[in-house]
Amino acid sequence: MLIDTHAHINDERLLPKAAEIHATLGEKGLESVVVVGYDRPSSECAVALSAEYERFYAAVGIHPHDSKSASAEDYDRFTDLCKLQKTVAFGEIGLDYYYDLSDRATQQKVFREQIELAHFLKKPMIFHVRDAYGDALKILKENAANLEYGGVMHCFGGSAEMMREFVKLGLHIAFGGAVTFKNFGKADVVKAVPKGRLLLETDCPYMTPVPYRGKDNLPEYIGLVRDKIQEWREDEDVEKITSENAVKLFNL
Ligand code: NI
Repeated sequence: MLIDTHAHINDERLLPKAAEIHATLGEKGLESVVVVGYDRPSSECAVALSAEYERFYAAVGIHPHDSKSASAEDYDRFTDLCKLQKTVAFGEIGLDYYYDLSDRATQQKVFREQIELAHFLKKPMIFHVRDAYGDALKILKENAANLEYGGVMHCFGGSAEMMREFVKLGLHIAFGGAVTFKNFGKADVVKAVPKGRLLLETDCPYMTPVPYRGKDNLPEYIGLVRDKIQEWREDEDVEKITSENAVKLFNL
């Protein structure tokens, strides 16, 4: 059975279909789905979904895009939500210099604050990093002691060398629909991830894999991600190792 470690069923495009998506997970070969928050309302929604549906788990946090709106009230709320058994991670948090929707100094400050909070709450973290691997690595190295409960570089798009730096910090590396794109060009990075650190995700409704480009992505399309990675890691059972890794990291 597969595990989707990064899905936004809390997105307005998928939320109306949550019951339907959940009902067919088993027949589509999925054991569970981690619903990831990106601000306070979406985190509350992720937790509500995890309470209502057996195979949904939640992560709470503020996306770098929304760093500028982060408040002490958000952190208090996340502290409460992390006491719930099905809140399995803190995220998605990180740095996004591609869109720069919050200024970089604010992104870095809020990233640091959330790393400390996640550690205090004893949660693994889900990292969103785009065009900012250098600064993210620097901040994570400074926070090495706060990475005790692990974490994952979601939708990893860096080099093999950069991947090894994150692995040295004890982190996992997740890949999604981008691996099916013609221009992906990072098969060597996927191949080089240590067996015990590889994870699968969809990031739905975004990052729809080939051949469903142009439609909303769904957890059920994760099989296409597995198939592509299986081609590159032919000596391993990709579904089995990634699911075992997810269960261990998130205590599912
Ligand atoms: Ni995401």
